[in-house]
Parts: sequence; C-alpha cells; structure tokens
Amino acid sequence: MEVTFKDVSLSYDGTREILHHLNFTIPEGTLVSILGPSGCGKSTTLMMISGLLAPTSGKIFFGDKDVTKQDALARKVGMVFQNYALYPHLTVLENIMFPLKMAKVKKPERKKRALELAKLVHVEDQINKKPGALSGGQQQRVAIARALAKEPSLLLLDEPLSNLDARLRIEMREEIRRIQQETGVTTIFVTHDQDEALHISDHIMVLNNGDMQQFSSAETLYDNPSNLFVAKFIGEPVINTLAIADFQGELDQHVPADILKQAVSVGIRPEALQDHDSGDDTIAAIETTVKEFEKYGREKNAQLDFHGKKLLTTEIENTLEKEQKLTLYLQKSGFYLFDQDGKRIFGGDQDVK
Ligand SMILES: Nc1ncnc2c1ncn2[C@@H]1O[C@H](COP(=O)(O)OP(=O)(O)OP(=O)(O)O)[C@@H](O)[C@H]1O
Ligand SMILES: [Mg+2]
Repeated sequence: MEVTFKDVSLSYDGTREILHHLNFTIPEGTLVSILGPSGCGKSTTLMMISGLLAPTSGKIFFGDKDVTKQDALARKVGMVFQNYALYPHLTVLENIMFPLKMAKVKKPERKKRALELAKLVHVEDQINKKPGALSGGQQQRVAIARALAKEPSLLLLDEPLSNLDARLRIEMREEIRRIQQETGVTTIFVTHDQDEALHISDHIMVLNNGDMQQFSSAETLYDNPSNLFVAKFIGEPVINTLAIADFQGELDQHVPADILKQAVSVGIRPEALQDHDSGDDTIAAIETTVKEFEKYGREKNAQLDFHGKKLLTTEIENTLEKEQKLTLYLQKSGFYLFDQDGKRIFGGDQDVK
C-alpha cells in the first residue's frame, strides 16, 4: 500500500508542535526506514501511519484513499514494537494464530496460515514452545509472523532490533529484508541506527526535530546530502566539518566566488582526503601536519592538523610519522559547502537535493 502524508503536523498537548508539515510518499511494495536521533518524532510518525494517533493538521492517504479519520483496525496494519509483546502463556503457533482467531478465521485455516508464516520466518521447529523458551531473535521472528498473519496492508516496525546483540541485529535485519521481499508487503522500519537503515532500506527518511531532512536512497543520502545535518548523521567515520573561515585562500581558485561568499561550513568525508594527487578528481591541495597515524587491518587512519583544526582521513597510502608535514589532496566527491541555514550549495550532484 502506498502511504502519503500531506502537510501533516502533530502536537500532543496543543501547544508544542512535535512534527512539522510532513510531506512524503512511501511507494507501494518498498521498505522505507525512518531514521533520526532519539526524540525526533519517529515513533510519533509511525503511530500516525498506524491510526493509533490522529494528526493535528494535514491528511494521510493509503493509495488514493483519505484515511486520516480511519481508526487503526480499519487501516489493517501489522505492527511490531521493540519489546515484541508476545503472549507468554501461548505457544509460538498460538501467538501467530491469535490475530486470526480474533478475526474469527476457522481453526484449520488459521493453523495452516500460521504454519506457513512460521516457515517464512524460520521458526517452524519452535512452534510448540512458549516465548519464554525462545532466544531474542526467535521471539522477534514470531512477532513479525504474528504481525503478518492478517495479511496487513502495511508492516510497521518500531526499533524492532534494539533488544538484540550486535551479531543478531545484523542477522535479523537481513531476515527482515528477506521477509519483506518474499511477501512484498510495504514496510516502514523505524531506527536511530544509520547502519541498519542503510543496509535494509529502499529509501530512507531522515528526521530531525520533527522536520523531514531528506527522503532518498542510501546512496543519495551519502553522496548528495541535502544539508549539513544529513551529511553529519550519515557516514562512519563521521564527515570532517570546518568553518569556511578555517580556509585561507585554498579554495579561491576552485570554487566560484559567489558560492564561496555564501558558504559557512565545509564538509569533507574522511575518504575525500588523500595523500596523492588524483588529477581531475582532485579539487584542491592543502598543507597539514600529522598528529596521529594508526594502521590496523585494512584501515589506516590519520589525524591531521590544518590551520589549528583537526581533520581525519582514511585514505593514506604511505606510512606517516608524527609531526610530519603532509600535503592532502581534496577529492571532488565527498567535498561539500553549506550555507548559513546548513543547505548544501556546492559538491555532490547539483541536480539532486
Ligand atoms: N504521549 C506523548 N505525550 C507528549 N509528548 C510525547 C508523547 N510521546 C512522545 N512525545 C514527545 O514527542 C517527541 C517525539 O517523540 P517520539 O517518541 O516520536 O520520538 P522518537 O524519534 O521515536 O524517539 P526514540 O528514538 O527515543 O524512540 C519527543 O519530544 C517526546 O517527548
Ligand atoms: Mg521511538
């Protein structure tokens, strides 16, 4: 089901607005992540999609249908929360069958459907156990199967992996992707973990302070961040940020004067600082001093001083000595300028905002 928000705002108490004029469309059959820091309004957005919470203003559409006034039951969404909320006294199979029982589906039919779902999420060998006897990952699978039981129009997942350890999180996020692709159900996945969002989604909606920052593919978010917030939020190690005033003429030859005049912040991805000239891909050279150099496995990280400011690079070919002078070559891809509102005004693909 395609989901559209038209100018949706929300206030819980009528005074403080939590979400401001959200406009977006989640295409049918896709997996979209809502990504942003704690408290930015991710769960609130999901609750409005589910129908558990009504917008203060604006409209919500499922396909062409205005569902703004429709309640949660009528919207037929499946939800999975962080704490799974399985019924402890029911077996795995009974848990998956429960929504079908409520919907008065006949017993043989609901058993057949529940078994299919148990297979889909790979818990078919656990069906007679109680949730207490399952691992976190298995409980999560059961919760997803239960949410899918009524063939929901949408599957909504609110930080469903946050109770799992690091390895299981990675395994389960791949499982969620597989299940989504096998069922084709439009899925909205809330997370504050950029890595999770980048790996699982077709599109990512980045939220901050109740404002949508950008809604695009992982690749576009990384290569063409629309603003400084997105540039800093996406990417590991984090992008280097400097003030335009930290540069002393190094950019004058390379950036049009009118853009340089508006620029306030400079963002340079760690991989966009190289110790060798790469011809046309190099935009400018800067003189730095090496402060730290670490080499382990495939990684070579250097901390550098540039006019008294710190820079981090991951693209060093040679071994470096502390306090050594080093010329760094700024690469075009991964170099951005932002104006006083944080908007990207240089770098990336200028057609993509
Ligand atoms: N029931 C409520 N009543 C009043 N304010 C609320 C309520 N629920 C959430 N808020 C406020 O709305 C804002 C957004 O909350 P929300 O739960 O949507 O954030 P979130 O992005 O899901 O955060 P987290 O990552 O911590 O789960 C926060 O400032 C929060 O304090
Ligand atoms: Mg939340």
